[in-house]
Amino acid sequence: MISLTINGKQYDVDVSADTPLLWVIRDTIGLTGTKFGCGLQQCGACTVHLDGVAVRSCGVPVSSVGAKKVTTIEGLSAASSHPLQLAWIAEQVPQCGYCQSGQLMSAAALLAKKTKPTDADIDAAMSGNICRCGTYQRIRRAIHRAAGA
Ligand code: FES
Ligand code: FES
Repeated sequence: MISLTINGKQYDVDVSADTPLLWVIRDTIGLTGTKFGCGLQQCGACTVHLDGVAVRSCGVPVSSVGAKKVTTIEGLSAASSHPLQLAWIAEQVPQCGYCQSGQLMSAAALLAKKTKPTDADIDAAMSGNICRCGTYQRIRRAIHRAAGA
């Protein structure tokens, strides 16, 4: 049995130690806001926070999480009220939406450590999050909007 704290709640999961955290979040616990894209740590769709740091959960063995706090898109805010979520709506960022929870989690980790990021900061922090719909310009605008909020 492995214990995890996800979005402030404790879970005990009966999975093998090498199970990727993404599998546990989605299939064992049922939090499906975090998406499976490539499974190879290449697309960013599965991004969650581990103690506030953005990580690709498809590449994190669940046994390595330990006491670190996991935050998924469902735990980013109450009632989708995080400044980034409000900015995402205001800028109408999503197209198909598939990559967007990962985009938001990377952006949230950036803003938590840099309250006024430059375009270069944004590009560096977001470079691991792929959007097949090409929403990159809107994402950048939304991050600036949230930073100014
Ligand atoms: S699914 Fe994890 S990076 Fe693509
Ligand atoms: S909004 Fe479709 S992949 Fe990003």
